[in-house]
Order: sequence, then structure tokens, then C-alpha cells
Amino acid sequence: MAVKEMIYEGKAKKVFATDQADEVLVSYKDDATAFNGEKKGTIVGKGVVNNRMSNHLMQMLEEKGIPTHYIKELSERDTIVKKVEIVPLEVIIRNKACGSFSKRYGVAEGTELKQPTIEFSYKNDDLGDPLINTYHALALDLASEAEIAEIERLAFAVNDALIAYFETIDIELVDFKLEFGRYHDTIVLADEISPDTCRLWDIHTHARLDKDRFRRDMGDVEEAYLEVYKRLGI
Ligand code: TMP
Repeated sequence: MAVKEMIYEGKAKKVFATDQADEVLVSYKDDATAFNGEKKGTIVGKGVVNNRMSNHLMQMLEEKGIPTHYIKELSERDTIVKKVEIVPLEVIIRNKACGSFSKRYGVAEGTELKQPTIEFSYKNDDLGDPLINTYHALALDLASEAEIAEIERLAFAVNDALIAYFETIDIELVDFKLEFGRYHDTIVLADEISPDTCRLWDIHTHARLDKDRFRRDMGDVEEAYLEVYKRLGI
């Protein structure tokens, strides 16, 4: 497999073409941003943790019947994934109130929700990823009704699998963001599952082991990523 030109550079990853038309190489960076790129920094070692953690979790999800973009880990920062067309929706599942949900609805962070919630943001940096509902997504032709139904089904299945998995390493899954892609007429889980995209709390102390430490200047950011990495035992 030969790596070719860079086709995209995002805030946390670079994507390169390969000699396989339907495969790309994703390379994870240590760059960190928050608030739509307003806050910038570096989390040393983050790229390694996020790459290896995401691959580990995607393989676990595949075993549970959830289709993902994962193909093969090449090195500690580089992975071959299916070349998908990203559906421009950020899909957020919440088990407890936190972050923008707490702010918007006036619910204290950490409040248990009666049932998990799902919400969609329109993935558009120029607009700051605004919250939208499924009618908006259909009206803007971001996805079809069948695709949205499949995305919702898969997102809740991912939630069930991840809650159970993280419990085994004493981590509570508060909320997380997923992205999905189109690959040969099917919807597959894409992007990453990492402390950048999940809120992960220690089950006993409720210590935050995720990017909120960077977003909120809480300190010990690298330590939190390494703690999750260590617990994964990968
Ligand atoms: P929020 O409470 O700020 O809306 O975040 C919900 C979840 O989504 C949280 O686990 C962090 C994750 N997230 C991202 O992965 N990318 C983003 O750009 C934002 C705003 C949140």
C-alpha cells in the first residue's frame, strides 16, 4: 500500500489518499482546538491515544455487528480506513446532562437523564455547527429519511456497547459525538471515538478523563488521556 497526497487536513487529523481508490490513511495529530477553533493548543501524545483507542473501540463495535470505517492500524498514529462520504451531521448521544445540554436546559452537570437523548448538529465550521432537528436535515438535504433512521439506530447501539465496555474499566460514559459516512450505499460509523469526542468520568470520583480538561483549563490534560489509555490495556 502506497501513501499519496494529503486530501484533507482537519483540526485533529490529516487524511491522505492511497493507491487503493476506496481506502484512505488517517494520521492523528496532537493539535487540540475548542469552541470551533477559537482556542488552540497541543496535547502531547493525544494523537497516539486517540488513534489506538478509536481503533480498539471500532473493532469491538464491529464484533457487535456495527459497521465502521476501520480497516487496519499502520502505526501508533496512522490507520487505514474506508474512504467514506461524511454525512454532515454531528450525532450527539447523552446519558447524563453536561456541557451545552446543561447550559441550554438549565440542568446541573452530572444529572442522570431519564433516558438517553440524541441530537444533531449541522457539521459546518463557518456556521459553528448549529443544532438542528431531523426536519431541518431533510429540508437541507443533508441525509435521507432512511439514512437518518439508520444513523439513530446505530448511534443508540453504539451507546449500549460503549456504556457496557467503559463500565468494565471504571469509566462512566456521560456523552459523546459520532460521525457517520456513506460507503457503497451503506452507512458506517466513521471519524473517531476518543477523549476528544466523549465525556469520560471516573466512575467513583467523577474525575474528568477527557477533553473538558483542555476546554475548561482544568490542568492534567495529558495525564487524563494517558489514564484512559492505560485503563484500556491496549
Ligand atoms: P457539548 O455538550 O459541548 O454539546 O458536547 C457534547 C459531546 O460532544 C461531548 O462529549 C463533546 C463532544 N463534542 C465533539 O466531539 N466535538 C465538538 O465540536 C463539540 C462541541 C462537542
